[in-house]
Amino acid sequence: MSVFSEALRAKFDMLMQRYPSRRSALVPMLIFAQDEIGYLTPEAIREIAALQGITELAVREVIGYYSMLRTVPAGQYHVQVCTNISCLIRGGEDILEHCQKRLGIGHKQTTPDGVFSLEEVECMGACSWAPAIQVNYDYHQQLTPEKVDEILEQYRAKAAKEGTN
Ligand code: FES
Repeated sequence: MSVFSEALRAKFDMLMQRYPSRRSALVPMLIFAQDEIGYLTPEAIREIAALQGITELAVREVIGYYSMLRTVPAGQYHVQVCTNISCLIRGGEDILEHCQKRLGIGHKQTTPDGVFSLEEVECMGACSWAPAIQVNYDYHQQLTPEKVDEILEQYRAKAAKEGTN
């Protein structure tokens, strides 16, 4: 029995046929799997390895290479703060420190209510609008600590509305 939905299994099939080499579909498969179940569980890794016809170790090596792939759960809203050069010179470290204080957690930690997790990341391609953060797939740019507070409050309210907290 699959740990993935029928729709995702169909997407995996489509991806593996799309590329000349089936292996090229591995990273997108891992990203879609993570999106569906929250993180890459041992069962998910096992199933993807079987679909790819490679070892679980080979899958884990790829997961270990890409920082956006994770084998532990993240918060409902995963806050990624860039402290790379453009963001750094425009206050990225202050933004990170502010997020740490506001959320009460550090790098790669999750709030006890499971709403937020925090991660310091490398350049996310938003250098022209530094400093920037990414929350799940949404970008927030040209930030100040005050703007960060507003953004975090919006996500907190969203989580409350969705009934998760
Ligand atoms: S340095 Fe922060 S987005 Fe590029």
